[in-house]
Amino acid sequence: MADLSTVFTGIRFENPFLLASAPPAESESNILRAYEAGWGGVVTKTIGLHPVTNVTGPKTKFLRADFEGSRLSMTKRPDTTLMASWNWELISDKPLDWWVPRLQAIKKAWPNRVLVASIMAGSGTDKELHNWQILTQAVQDAGVDAIELNFSCPHMDRVDMGSNVGKDPVLCSVSTQAVKAVARVPVWVKLTPATADIVEEATATFLGGADAISSSNTFPALPLFDPATLDFEVNVDGYVSSGGLGGPAILPQSLAKMAQLTQAFPDGELSGIGGISGFDQALSYFLLGCGTVQVATAAMLDHAIGPNVIAALTRGMTEFLERNAVRGWTSLADFRGLRRGRVVPHSQIGRPDDSGYHGGYDEETEGYAVEVAAR
Ligand SMILES: Cc1cc2nc3c(=O)[nH]c(=O)nc-3n(C[C@H](O)[C@H](O)[C@H](O)COP(=O)(O)O)c2cc1C
Repeated sequence: MADLSTVFTGIRFENPFLLASAPPAESESNILRAYEAGWGGVVTKTIGLHPVTNVTGPKTKFLRADFEGSRLSMTKRPDTTLMASWNWELISDKPLDWWVPRLQAIKKAWPNRVLVASIMAGSGTDKELHNWQILTQAVQDAGVDAIELNFSCPHMDRVDMGSNVGKDPVLCSVSTQAVKAVARVPVWVKLTPATADIVEEATATFLGGADAISSSNTFPALPLFDPATLDFEVNVDGYVSSGGLGGPAILPQSLAKMAQLTQAFPDGELSGIGGISGFDQALSYFLLGCGTVQVATAAMLDHAIGPNVIAALTRGMTEFLERNAVRGWTSLADFRGLRRGRVVPHSQIGRPDDSGYHGGYDEETEGYAVEVAAR
């Protein structure tokens, strides 16, 4: 019998599919609808201590390709397919006091579904680090099952917030430690993909005490120019700022980041995010070693909270397990990480004649190596 349930950071999930921190998870009514639709868990829209004010006009747009692929544009038109979401939305514009009673009510209504609070504060001073602790204590007292630290929002102005934390291993470590000092629930950390080697920030984060790492948040991106107006397709008074790309376009890039993480931390708890709309895509993250996956863009485009997306995910996983019952597989544990070892250096990829390629080096010593050899 197919069993979709799983345990991640010690928490039991009815299924490994979560709504990611984004507009689908920014109100009590949405989160309740998400549980009704069957999501195993929900990560709230990121909660902060200070009020935020979003830009004028649309905060999120969707980039679509014509079927023949000759035009990419955010303009709504028929016969197109979704390529990506682009957003420059900030964290929740609702204060902590607004969230706390709502988190309590959600947990009361659905005690067995997993509720994760995404939180964010600054990291530049002891006072700011204390703000992480205020947020942590408030959301865990409200009853959430876990906390996800947002070290990854790509459009924060402050140098000690969002992805600016995720780009700095020291800030990653101290902010995680500050939260862990008061946390009674598992602490997940959502890292930015916008760094040279995500393993460095992940190492610092795990050393700081994190129980899990989530990846990826959106990738830094600009909208395209409109060839008629010569303005960006999204702009305010002609100006734009770097926003974040999500959806199908980032799936391969996000998998590459996740492959680095699952190889560096084969026993680590990792939550895969980026470009998931059906089970085949979730499967790629599971085969690399992820224990849960999260969805934002696809859910936004499906009745705001993704009822058809979660139905497709659970149906797809059930059918996958049934197809593989002959191998004795009954749950995620049976295939999680099965293909982790299949990403290798280029030189280890098979070649028609293995005498001809030596990883970019000549068989005989050359360059610097010659000088060293001559000493
Ligand atoms: C409009 C929008 C708002 C988002 N807001 C947040 C946020 O507040 N906190 C956060 O951690 N991630 C946020 N994200 C990132 C998503 O949680 C997710 O990491 C990203 O969109 C990649 O997943 P996807 O390809 O399924 O969209 C947001 C994404 C979108 C599209």
